[in-house]
Amino acid sequence: MADQLLSAGPLLESLPESYVRPEEQRPRLHEVLSDANIPLVDLAHPDRACVVRSVAHACRNYGFFQIVNHGISVESMQRMLGVAREFFRLPAAEKMSHYSDDPAKKMRLSTSFNVRKETVRNWRDYLRLHCFPLEEYVPDWPPNPPLFKDIVSSYCTEVRQLGFRLQGLISESLGLEEDYIVKVMGEQEQHMAINYYPPCPAPDLTYGLPAHTDPNGLTILLQDPQVAGLQVLRDGRWIKVDPQPNALVVNIGDQIQALSNAEYKSVWHRAVVHLDRERMSVASFLAPCNTALISPPEKLTGGGGRGAVYRSFTYAEYYQKFWSRNLDQEHCLEQFK
Ligand code: SIN
Ligand code: FE2
Repeated sequence: MADQLLSAGPLLESLPESYVRPEEQRPRLHEVLSDANIPLVDLAHPDRACVVRSVAHACRNYGFFQIVNHGISVESMQRMLGVAREFFRLPAAEKMSHYSDDPAKKMRLSTSFNVRKETVRNWRDYLRLHCFPLEEYVPDWPPNPPLFKDIVSSYCTEVRQLGFRLQGLISESLGLEEDYIVKVMGEQEQHMAINYYPPCPAPDLTYGLPAHTDPNGLTILLQDPQVAGLQVLRDGRWIKVDPQPNALVVNIGDQIQALSNAEYKSVWHRAVVHLDRERMSVASFLAPCNTALISPPEKLTGGGGRGAVYRSFTYAEYYQKFWSRNLDQEHCLEQFK
């Protein structure tokens, strides 16, 4: 099993066949557009109505935006990325003690996306953690690096508060009460994926993560400030999301697409890798509680007479369906039409 984890072996000089995408699925990196227009929202802007308008514009047109002055300190972000980097530098044997390919596990180090299902692998290792309630999960988190539990749990607490604040802005931006999304989602689940993308011998033949949408409600991504890699799809073209100083990246997940009756889109995105640079990212996911019933409010289905785009479902049903697929199949919401 030790050969499963990229970061547990030597750097490879050529890309193993199991990572090579068929010609028509390759990233075509020379065609990717630079990050001209991904919206940047200043959460400390004194005019809330203006922030709400920017969020509406970003969610409607991109499904992605970056935020600054979001209340999570630069030190906290640096500590989080620093301890994540240190984790992936632990000796291979220690890391392998956390390895599992079972997506149902609440704490696991794994590789690619879902090695039980995939036919082609992705150039990524990741540590996946359930993060709420913290006291239930932190005891089982890796004991090393020694500060890992402290740093990651403080970061999780800050991200959770920020996520609720963003959900308030998103609710308002849809013309709903500020607490609408927070109420529908119930006691929200929180997960984290700490992603490590090693240098890759052939970045044009493979992905760190292939195109996918996020199954959860809202994602808050802390990117490596030095190394870009995230790309989002807009009007059929891939666009780079270059890290902005001290910013976090926010994207709408499938659940908010469904709750907004598809006014806001859970947009396709992917992570590409580099020949000579490793990259880290820390994705925090807020999701409805398992029993939450996901169906859009009348305000968004009536009036204009569009009706509901998707049938109602529970988050448990959705999540199960999502993990039983491969990452890069059709949008999972299509199955709920
Ligand atoms: C993700 O989509 O979950 C991660 C993307 C990234 O590493 O930038
Ligand atoms: Fe994602």
